[in-house]
Parts: sequence; C-alpha cells; structure tokens
Amino acid sequence: MNELIKAIEKLKQEKNAVILAHYYTEGEIQNIADFVGDSLALAQWANKTDADVIVMCGVHFMGETTKIICPDKKVLVPDMNAGCSLADSCPAEKFSEFVSLHPDHTVISYVNTTAAVKAVTDVVVTSTNARQIVESFPADEKIIFGPDRNLGNYINSITGRKMLLWDGACHVHEKFSVEKIIELKQSHPDALVLAHPECKSTILALADVVGSTAALLKAAIQSDRKEFIVATESGILHEMQKQCPEKTFIPAPPNDSTCACNECSYMRLNTLEKLYNCLKDESPEIIVDQETADKAIKSIKRMLEISEQLGL
Ligand code: 13P
Ligand code: SF4
Repeated sequence: MNELIKAIEKLKQEKNAVILAHYYTEGEIQNIADFVGDSLALAQWANKTDADVIVMCGVHFMGETTKIICPDKKVLVPDMNAGCSLADSCPAEKFSEFVSLHPDHTVISYVNTTAAVKAVTDVVVTSTNARQIVESFPADEKIIFGPDRNLGNYINSITGRKMLLWDGACHVHEKFSVEKIIELKQSHPDALVLAHPECKSTILALADVVGSTAALLKAAIQSDRKEFIVATESGILHEMQKQCPEKTFIPAPPNDSTCACNECSYMRLNTLEKLYNCLKDESPEIIVDQETADKAIKSIKRMLEISEQLGL
C-alpha cells in the first residue's frame, strides 16, 4: 500500500496534478487527497487551483463541473462509471421539456446534475448554499427547483417558498429508516442527530441539525455532545472521527439491513489503484462538449459569484 501511495505522490509531482476528494469517498482516498470537501468547496477549490491536471475522486457530475470551471486543465476521474442516482433521476431532455412548460420560472438546479441539465439552468446550488441562493431571489419569484424533491421540499419548508419541484431523489438518502433512528435515539438519548437535506422529511423531522456534509462536520466539531447519529453517506464519518477522535459517530441505518445502503456505491468505485492508473495513463478523462459547457458555465459561475458575495 505504501508503495502505491508513494507512486501516486511521484506522479502528482511529475504532472503538476492535484487530487480532490469528496467526503463520501473511502478514507484511504481522503487521506491522500490534496483537498477534501463537500460539493461547493470542491467547485471553489477547482476554481482557484493552478495545477495542470485535476483528479476528481467523487462522481461523474463533479468531474464535469470541474472541467467546465477549468476548461484548459486535464480533468481525470478514477472510474468513469461513478455516476449518481440523483443526477440519473433527471434526464436532460425531460427536464428541458419541464422547463419549457414554465417559461416564466427561474431554474435553480442542484449541482448533482449532468452538464446538459446545468445548461438549461439559471443558477446552480449545492446543499451548502441552496437556502441563501433561493432567498437571494424576490419572495414572489417563480422558481423551478430540481432534481432533488427532498432538498426542494426542505428549502420550501424553511423559506416559505412554493418552488415547483422535479421528482428526483438519491438512492442512499432515501433509504434511511425512521424506526431504526428512533430506536437509536432511545438507546443513545444524548446523541445529536445530524441529517443531510437529501433525506426524506420524516428523517429530517428527527434531526437536531440539517445541513450539507461540511455543515454536519462543523456541527460535530463544535458541539459539546459526545455521541452523534449521522444520517448521510457514511464516508463522512472518516473526517468526523479524524477531527473528533474522542467522540462517537453512529451511522444511521438504512431500512434494508441486508445491504450497506448508507454507502454510495458510486463514490466507493474510487480506489487507490484506479487513482494510480488514471494519473499514470491520464485516463479516463472528462470531456464536455463545447456548446453544453458554454451554456452550463453561466449557471455554475453564478453560483460561485453569489456564494462569494455571501461569504460562503
Ligand atoms: P454535499 O457535498 O453538498 O454535502 O452533497 C452531498 C452529495 O450527495 C454529494 O453527491
Ligand atoms: Fe449521488 Fe446520492 Fe451518491 Fe451523492 S450519495 S453521489 S447524491 S448517489
């Protein structure tokens, strides 16, 4: 293993490459990354790096977003099959039809979408900035929000907006079990429940803190509680445990106890070996067609600009 890590470090130096990783990847990937973050932080980091090569250890839409932000850099992903069930729940053609049926609506899309969906979007959001970006529009602005119905419902509930929602969801966040979290709360009465807004409203109703992966991490660090029940992809526990070695983090169980459904099977396709191979071969490389990229960059840049203005 050490040899593989040394070989990756050497290739990184030779190629002036950086490795970015999402909090949901395996701990060994997070450990070797130059930067680990949530979706917003990864996009912000890509926007300012001067590396020639960026390896995005995450999922395909993160690679696409990086390539659109950094068209002159080579953007690699360890496994081209690392997709996203939420992005898949919003095919671009169908979403475009939906948008064209509501021409007077502003289109706000979650970053978990393909470049083609971003191309018909006015402003992209992540779970870190969705509330603030929605609230940056006048209260009577007509808004389409896609593709995550749970995040959309949550934002509607905390802002009082009535955004039209696309009916998409993430297979990991949909599967947390209300009953099992209630049981865990009973057996760990002092535990703080942390939940990602991609979870269903029945799960969010049990949560003490609702937020993006970065927000949940911050809450875990700042809280004086000793135990936490974590309702999001379990990869985040790696950084939580690293930052707070004295605290206990309990992954919220899915309703199907026969599978590790609180792990994103796509994120877990990133392995050290594939990371080494993709740096060595400079493949698989993310390519976004120019016309789509030219349209999508506007909605991504708008998100980055608003986030900067808001100090996010
Ligand atoms: P954040 O990175 O915004 O917390 O979103 C989680 C997610 O599902 C990424 O795919
Ligand atoms: Fe997509 Fe869900 Fe995996 Fe996030 S956890 S990358 S939303 S499938």
